[in-house]
Order: sequence, then C-alpha cells, then structure tokens
Amino acid sequence: MDKLIVNHSMNLKGDIRVSGAKNAALPIVCASLLTADQLVLKNVPQLKDIYTLEKLLGGMGVKIDFSGDVMSFNAAEVTSLVAPYEFVKTMRASVLVLGPLVARFGYAEVSLPGGCAIGARPVDQHIKGLEAMGAEIVIEHGYIKAKASRLKGARIVMDMVTVTGTENLLMAAVLADGVTILENSAREPEVTDLAHCLIKMGAKIDGVGTDTLVVTGVEKLHGCEHSVVADRIEAGTFAVAAAITQGDLTLTHARPDTMGAIIEKLIRSGATVTEGNDFLRVAMSTRPQSVDIKTLPYPAFPTDMQAQFMTLNCVADGASYMTETIFENRYMHVPELCRMGAKIDVDGNIAMIRGVTQLHGAEVMATDLRASASLVLAGMYAEGQTKVDRIYHLDRGYEHIEHKLNNVGANIVRVKG
Ligand code: UD1
Repeated sequence: MDKLIVNHSMNLKGDIRVSGAKNAALPIVCASLLTADQLVLKNVPQLKDIYTLEKLLGGMGVKIDFSGDVMSFNAAEVTSLVAPYEFVKTMRASVLVLGPLVARFGYAEVSLPGGCAIGARPVDQHIKGLEAMGAEIVIEHGYIKAKASRLKGARIVMDMVTVTGTENLLMAAVLADGVTILENSAREPEVTDLAHCLIKMGAKIDGVGTDTLVVTGVEKLHGCEHSVVADRIEAGTFAVAAAITQGDLTLTHARPDTMGAIIEKLIRSGATVTEGNDFLRVAMSTRPQSVDIKTLPYPAFPTDMQAQFMTLNCVADGASYMTETIFENRYMHVPELCRMGAKIDVDGNIAMIRGVTQLHGAEVMATDLRASASLVLAGMYAEGQTKVDRIYHLDRGYEHIEHKLNNVGANIVRVKG
C-alpha cells in the first residue's frame, strides 16, 4: 500500500489549478446511461472513483474513451443492467446508476451499499422516491431490484437532504411520464451541475439551485458536451493549507461562488481572501484564529471540509467547537491528530479543540477521504516527518495531491508499497 511521507512545509506560495469536482463528475457519468447519443464530458478529474465507475459502466456495455480530462460515452448498446457488489462496496456512488437504468430500460439490479467507514448511509430515500414514481422494488440477496414499464411523475418529499438521493431521483424523473416534484432536494453545486448537464441533454427542469426541483419528463434525451464544475472541496482543502502554513496560494479554475461558507470561515480565521469569478487567493500572515463550525447541507458549511478545518483549529489560537450533523461517525481523524499532539475532546457529534502551537510528526493512518486530507495538512505543519498510511482513500478524491502541493513549496514524497 502506498504511503505519503509529509515533511514539515510552511509558507506555501504560488498557484494551484483546481480540478473538476469528483462529486459532480460521478452522477454526470451515470447520466450517460440516459441517452443512446454521445455525451462528452470535459474537466473530468483523473481519480480512482472515476476509474471505478468507468469499469462499472464499461461492464454494462457503455463505450467509453477517457483521455486527458475529457471523457466521452456512448450508451447505445447497454448489455447489462446490473451493478455488482464488487463495485458498490468500493464506491457507494455506484448506486447512482439505479435511477438512470430504471428510467431508460425499465429495470436495474444494484447491490446495496452496506455501511461505510463514516456511517450507516442507507439508501431508503432513493428507494422511496422510485417507488413513488411507480417502480416495483424488492431487496433480494443484497441487491435492490427495481422494475417499471415507464416511471410516472410524482410528488416526493425527501425525509432528509440527501445529495446522491436527489441526483438519483432527478435522473429518474427526467424520462418519467408527467411531472415530478422533488421537495427537500439537496442544493449542493454538484446537484446543480448535474441538472445543467441534463438540461443540455433535453431535460425539462425548473427550480435548479433550490430545494424544490420540478421535472417535466420527456420521451428521450440527446447527447451534449459539458464541462464539470470546479471541485469546491479540493479548493477548500488547499485554501486551508495556505492558512495553516501561513502561506499565500492562488487557486485557479476555482468557483468561489460555490464556496461561501468555506470562505467565511477562512476570513474569520484571519486569512486575507481575494475572490474572482474563477480564482481564489488565500493568504495568512499570522497564526490562524480558531473558528466554531457546524456542518449542514449546502449552502451551509460542508461535512466534506470538517476534517480539514479540524486541523486548522488544532493549530489555531484559542478553543473551538465543531459539530458534525450529517454523518454519525466522521471523527476518525481525531485519534490520529491527537497522536500528533492535538488537543481534542469528542462528546457524541461535538468536538472541542484547544489550539496548540506545535504538532509532532508521527505515523498515522488515513481512514476516509477527507480524514486523509486533514492528516496531510497536519503533517505539513508538524515538526519532523509524518507518514500517512492507507492513502488509497486520498487517491479516491484528490488528483495528484502531492504534485500540486510540492509545486507550491511542500515536501511530500509518495512511497510505493
Ligand atoms: C454525498 C457526497 C459526500 C458528502 C455527502 C454530504 C457524493 C458522491 N458524495 O454523499 O462526499 O459527504 O453527500 O454532503 O456526492 N441518508 C439516509 N437515507 C438515504 C440517503 C441518505 O438516511 O436514502 C442520510 C445519510 O446516512 C447521511 C445523510 O442522509 O446521514 C446525508 O447523506 P447523503 O447526502 O445521501 O450523502 P451521499 O449522497 O452518500
């Protein structure tokens, strides 16, 4: 297993190009199943999760070409309507083929994802919504088996805000017969990006960017070309790197308009932030101030940035509270950060952090994607050397992270294992 050796690296300075958003690319790749025409996607990040989905769709008969950051798809001849356990267990987002398959082919078999490191994460809302649209669903041998001659428009109120749940139901609704109203929809920029791509494919969707999506189903969608929105979480992670290392980073090809809550916390922590339409500059000249954080659905502070801001709070001046309201087990980075000298107390979903001036390099283990990023950030601040093990989690969501950071002055080495 590969490891990262993170050496003490302060005052990062320079430009980093932000990649396309993994969480937008994943549903849009699945949207390729909705048409027999060619879909061309640009600004696709080269990440393990994208390769996993490429294999899954390839196995279903979708013709895929992936070169550079451009991916093209042709799903004219789909030969299998099954998403096997081996894919869904490595990547939950594989469940996003469910809506498109039932909508276009009237059948799908998708393995249930099961638990994952950061919580139980059920898919009951995806199932409830498809049933409301007339799908017959049975759960058998660990698989969701869904059948419908043609889905019908329905009014669906989701019990909680779910990102992939909204995306799955949106992709199902675009080909349904009649009008579907999706209430309490997720408003994450990645959902919005999917909606924009679907509209280019001929879908009729009103309320994009709000919590009520009104979808008038059409008989058929066509191909289109779409560029994936910038990754606000990758950009946010590098912004925190600038703040922690008292550096000055300009994040190019970014979308600061999707990062309001993150930018607000950076400013509160003492950073100087300059925003343009497609760039974000973050500079910090002193030790950061601690900031209280509560994770909530968009546009509030994202759970996917909680671990990175935890590292910032660990080295900040003062004490802070962090409250995780989205996932029940998302503090797995805490014991690892404590091994590096951080002072964190966790009680249920609340973490109390007392900032320290020094962290110490240690051997630590990455436990999930964003937790891994928090350990790399901590490693740059810490004196000495930090060995981050199990970085396959990091490779799922960060494109060339050590190259991007080394280009702005970090000293991180990948050791093949
Ligand atoms: C997506 C993101 C992930 C992010 C998360 C929250 C992708 C590929 N992943 O995950 O990076 O951390 O949103 O912003 O886009 N829930 C249910 N029943 C359901 C669906 C969800 O109870 O049917 C619960 C979950 O257990 C969780 C909460 O709702 O507690 C939010 O989960 P959800 O938004 O669905 O997360 P994902 O879409 O899996």
